Amino acid sequence: MGDPKRSGVDLSRRGFLKSAGGLAAGGALGESALSAANSGLLGDGVERLSGEVEIELTLNGAKRKVKVEPRTTLLSALRERIEPPLSGTKEVCDMGSCGACTVHVDQKPAYACLLLAVDCVGKSITTIEGLAKGDELHPVQKAFCEHDALMCGFCTPGFVMALSACLDAKPEATLDELKEACAGNVCRCGTYPHIFEAAVAAQRAKQGAKR
Ligand code: FES
Ligand code: FES
Repeated sequence: MGDPKRSGVDLSRRGFLKSAGGLAAGGALGESALSAANSGLLGDGVERLSGEVEIELTLNGAKRKVKVEPRTTLLSALRERIEPPLSGTKEVCDMGSCGACTVHVDQKPAYACLLLAVDCVGKSITTIEGLAKGDELHPVQKAFCEHDALMCGFCTPGFVMALSACLDAKPEATLDELKEACAGNVCRCGTYPHIFEAAVAAQRAKQGAKR
């Protein structure tokens, strides 16, 4: 699926390239390349942007260069523009309603379909491919396997990313907090009981408790 049109706004090519270049040189995103470019929209004589710019993203601990348009979402950058693609992050609704595209941005869960790639410059992005430490699965990944918490698997990376962000931030999270953490994730196969079972098991594993 291609990039979504973002609120019918076209950016100034000059403004965007200036912003992106400045960011690369300065190594900091500031508000965002997009916001900076958007500010140019308020004036007269704005040129329409139709090209791409190369940005550098920090993905799973590694710097990766990727060519994007200002409207390119992080999800699209991950799945369609990065080589090799990071397709573990799933595209289902592409409009922020299912959670299948959940990744961590600076350790917090975020929908990749609602983020612009240019807004992610300078941030640390973790996808499902980067969750395990070498051969050691994250406790949530392990628990999903052990508790059969998936059927078709389309929602699974999103649930795993949402729950792992919760448990990494709060290892003692309660069941209610775990449910809340993945309240923005939808499983059409209805595996919720197994998902919550796995979440609790992962929580116990994180705490080193015996089941
Ligand atoms: S694909 Fe992003 S929330 Fe559904
Ligand atoms: S396992 Fe199929 S959508 Fe969740």
